[in-house]
Amino acid sequence: MNTLRLNAQQGQDIATAADLLQQGKLVAVPTETVYGLAADASNPSAVAGIFTAKGRPANHPLIVHLHAKTALGEWAKDIPAAAWQLAEAFWPGPLTLLLPKADHASPVITGGLNSIGLRMPAHPALLQVLQLNQLAVAAPSANRYKKLSPTSAEQVLAGLNGRIDAVLDGGECEHGVESTIVHLTGEQIRIVRAGPITASQLQAVLKTTVLQPQQHQVQVPGNVDAHYQPNTPLRCLDSAQLHALLLEQPSNIAVLHLNALPTAQASVFTTQMPTDAAGYASQLYRQLYQADKLGVTAIWCELPPQGEAWLAVHDRLRRAQFIERT
Ligand code: TXA
Ligand code: MG
Repeated sequence: MNTLRLNAQQGQDIATAADLLQQGKLVAVPTETVYGLAADASNPSAVAGIFTAKGRPANHPLIVHLHAKTALGEWAKDIPAAAWQLAEAFWPGPLTLLLPKADHASPVITGGLNSIGLRMPAHPALLQVLQLNQLAVAAPSANRYKKLSPTSAEQVLAGLNGRIDAVLDGGECEHGVESTIVHLTGEQIRIVRAGPITASQLQAVLKTTVLQPQQHQVQVPGNVDAHYQPNTPLRCLDSAQLHALLLEQPSNIAVLHLNALPTAQASVFTTQMPTDAAGYASQLYRQLYQADKLGVTAIWCELPPQGEAWLAVHDRLRRAQFIERT
């Protein structure tokens, strides 16, 4: 199929994106986190097409993106007060709530689970698309399974051109890493995927403890270790290790660094990363994607500092360099 390129600056293109979704087509859309591959959530056969286009296993659940906070009540049931409080405080925004699914929500979306992931995205163009027909769309990140999530329309097309009906180009994504996912149905509220919104921010609203991802075991299909991977092998190193390796005169290497490096060398492609967590996150996939295009044999990444603000970055780096044992 021919993938149509739509421009989010054009009202006509926003309307076309909304029409295509209504017709059951697959449209990659910009969000404030990463690009999503959207299909009408009330159309199970359209949603099934997402799994084919991505090459994603059918039991990996999808997040449903809502046009309004009130739509929370249409897609979930037995909603605890905490969910409404979080929606009020953080929507539209990069926070996904896991709740018991409404009876009508198709198991195709939830991978057969009884829970559903919901968020109201903050990208103005996507909100316009959703609000035109009061649509809810199921949308995973718009990448081939296990690859880097795209933060631009160009990156979407690099992976999915010809496999989807359209991409709505809304420019570069603001956050650059996927939403924080919070589980709200158990005894304790817990983060299952670190993202732009931290546990401290959630706690400040809820006035109760919110567990960090590493404080509990996560057993969700789709939350796998090898994920968000560049094609080029990635190695994360602390500053001392990185500097020692660079002194060995390597060639054909890309380096994402934070601190100043020893003298520059030909065929070592260096990128200075932002030193604040939000800035770093917004550049991470973009720079890994750029490094992939250089044809280098490895990407070396200087490990960022620890601390709550950096959890999402560390999580994505760990998964990006994870080597599966077969
Ligand atoms: O920022 C984001 O969240 C982006 C943009 C497009 O909104 N979306 C995204 O979707 O990252 P995806 O499919 O790449 O990751 C969603 C993850 C799943 O892999 C799974 O771990 C979790 O969300 N998830 C979704 N629904 C769930 C459910 N019902 N129960 C448990 N986990 C769920
Ligand atoms: Mg994904």
